[in-house]
Amino acid sequence: MTVDTVLENAKLYLRGRIVEAGLAIDGGRITKIAKTPNLPEGSEKIDVEGRLILPGLIDVHVHLRDQGLSYKEDFYTGTAAAANGGITLVMDMPNNEPTTMSLNSLRERMRIAEGRILVNTAFYSAFPKNVGEIGKIITEGGAVAFKLYMVRRIGGVDPTDREALNEAFRETARFGVSVAIHAEDIKMIEAGVEAMRNLGRNDPEAYLEVHTPEAEVKAIREVARLTEKTKAKVHICHLSSSAGVEAVSEMKSRGLPVTCEVTPHHLLLTSEYAKRLGGLALMDPPLRSEGDVKGLWRALHRGVIDIVASDHAPHTLEEKSGSSIWDVKTGIPGLETTLPLLLTEVYRGRLTLQSLVRLTSERPAMVFGITGRGRISEGGYADLVVVDMKRRFKIDSSSFLSKAKFSPFDGWEVRGKPVKTFVNGRLVMDDGEIVAKPGVGVIIRRMGGLG
Ligand code: NCD
Ligand code: ZN
Repeated sequence: MTVDTVLENAKLYLRGRIVEAGLAIDGGRITKIAKTPNLPEGSEKIDVEGRLILPGLIDVHVHLRDQGLSYKEDFYTGTAAAANGGITLVMDMPNNEPTTMSLNSLRERMRIAEGRILVNTAFYSAFPKNVGEIGKIITEGGAVAFKLYMVRRIGGVDPTDREALNEAFRETARFGVSVAIHAEDIKMIEAGVEAMRNLGRNDPEAYLEVHTPEAEVKAIREVARLTEKTKAKVHICHLSSSAGVEAVSEMKSRGLPVTCEVTPHHLLLTSEYAKRLGGLALMDPPLRSEGDVKGLWRALHRGVIDIVASDHAPHTLEEKSGSSIWDVKTGIPGLETTLPLLLTEVYRGRLTLQSLVRLTSERPAMVFGITGRGRISEGGYADLVVVDMKRRFKIDSSSFLSKAKFSPFDGWEVRGKPVKTFVNGRLVMDDGEIVAKPGVGVIIRRMGGLG
């Protein structure tokens, strides 16, 4: 029997070990893993020349934009950037134009994405106005999780309305899906911004002074109360501070159903970058002190951190360079830097390859209930990235496939490059070029039913 594709002469990452072997792909799935001579015939045969093959990354925090914000990014450019970064599945955030917050808005977004995506795409929804619609958004719409901004009003539930939050959390608990949370206390942040404006402060430091670790911790404690009461699964996004990570660690030791993520920028950059680069290194939550960076790494090594996600948040250069920091749009692109930056940490010995795969593929699939992906196994989908561990290069945002051509990592020398990305068995990125037609990515829907 001839299969679609055979990848031979590889080093495969299989359950924590690196094995010299190859694999056969048929109908989008891995049908056989074996030493090269024992593989079946393939219509297409690709020799990966001894390079490492990892499961494609699952990035659980991506703002693909499109629709009313397509000038920042669209489904094609965003998923092209993902493929270029070795990411085979992205989870799209709901703060769009219009906000993804109902069955209709979710379906409309999926309709637009279908046929334009180059990697698999799953969708978050914000809470609807009527929390009774939550079940439908999951079972009929196929949202894989909800996103709650505690720092501003996005979606149908006001983050200061504890009763409404209780109800919404109770509803998600019934369906077993996670609520991903941007944890910053809205009252502290709004009061802080007001005070700074009155002082006439509009410098990057003012932003950092307002978006404090205390605001992060306060929101996490509120989430702890909510999940204790409702048993809702919660996922704390982009943890940025030692105090924040401690608050999550405490929740975990109390047995609450919580998971959490950090971004590469919070692991690798301090607030010095925000001060030096201004808007170009401004994101929410912002970069923190050396002590916080150390705290995040300690937590990662202790196993408190479940996931590393990019928080890919593209904007135009104009939007990143207002004269007042309060006018600057927060967020940076991250799809094309995440894997090279993490591979460099593996090279330096600060991260094991096992941790990298756990944090960027295995745990993301588990936390968000994505089946058949996130690891290399017979029967699983062929979502794969071939990496060249020896390749050194300089990060250069002008070559990003994302529309957002800036990065605080510009000029960083990294080691380890994704050189081929396969999505559902199809070669999508080959040495920095997109070689597949849009539509090779599929929409990943939550399997219906009560969780
Ligand atoms: C996000 C964006 O641009 O959509 N920006 C960011 O700094 N992370 C929104 C957000 O999560 O604040
Ligand atoms: Zn956020």
